[in-house]
Amino acid sequence: MHKRIFVFITSFILISLIFSNVAKATTYTVQSGDSLWKIASEHDVSLERLINKNKLMSTVIHPGKVLTIPDQDVYYVQQGDTLYRISQKFEVSLSQLIKSNPQIEAPSKIYVGQPINLPIDQQPKLIYSGDTDEKKVALTFDDGPEDLYTPKILEILKDKNVKATFFVVGKQVEEFPEMLKKIHNEGHSIGNHTWGHNNIKQLTDDQIIQNVQQTTAAIEHVIGEETILFRPPYGAFQDQQADVLYNQGYTSVMWSVDTNDWSGATANEVLTRTHQNISPGGIVLQHNFKVPGRLDGTVKALPKMIDQLREKGYEFVTVDELIKN
Ligand code: NI
Repeated sequence: MHKRIFVFITSFILISLIFSNVAKATTYTVQSGDSLWKIASEHDVSLERLINKNKLMSTVIHPGKVLTIPDQDVYYVQQGDTLYRISQKFEVSLSQLIKSNPQIEAPSKIYVGQPINLPIDQQPKLIYSGDTDEKKVALTFDDGPEDLYTPKILEILKDKNVKATFFVVGKQVEEFPEMLKKIHNEGHSIGNHTWGHNNIKQLTDDQIIQNVQQTTAAIEHVIGEETILFRPPYGAFQDQQADVLYNQGYTSVMWSVDTNDWSGATANEVLTRTHQNISPGGIVLQHNFKVPGRLDGTVKALPKMIDQLREKGYEFVTVDELIKN
């Protein structure tokens, strides 16, 4: 009798152990220099699922934190599927799908029930303009928020029903949180432009990481959302620094149209430069910093710029939307 009980208990413990092992999800301990994006891409899961799985309130993660890694994004082949049809179904390119599935020897030989890894969205590392032939353009404003030019720019954008992208400086966010909230509430995108408008060429990798994390934390504190966009002040940049930022989850955003507005250019000069350099997927660089008089040309040119670009057939998008293209 005792033996039976012993066998029963032992079996129970063994079975529990086996099942607990099977059910145990993969975990990962955050290392120094990690970003959520890097962890997600190394484990072939989407950033969104990683965030949801771990109920994260912020994308800023600290070394030593233990994350649960969700299962890979897998699709099981159904009757009538081809790789092409699967790529269409999930809106990924066929070549991306093939690249994510090195186990498939010949694309024509897939079978019902076969697991297919779905590629996660590929975020670009560095862009100067959108990768599109469509007449889309993104207006961008750097160095805010502040309370001199930002309200005027916002009013024009609202009046013209245009959504733009604002690359903000952490220190300014701290000083003008309500203005950042207003920008966000009016539907514009927010990007990271360092904490103190720093030339990142002069910073070490660790300093860059610290700087962008601090800035993004300030942005998140105000609007409750992360940003994946980064623009280096002065456009100053070393190639390898784009990798550092990419590993932190950022796409570095340059521009294809420099209005030169920061120099105090007149409205006509701003419009001429835009007209000469615009192309599909264009990213227009403008500013909203607080130097009285200096950006009068920007404000004066803006309604005309919007009208002229619309006349040429352009549609206004945020940089986020341009990247998703
Ligand atoms: Ni700047």
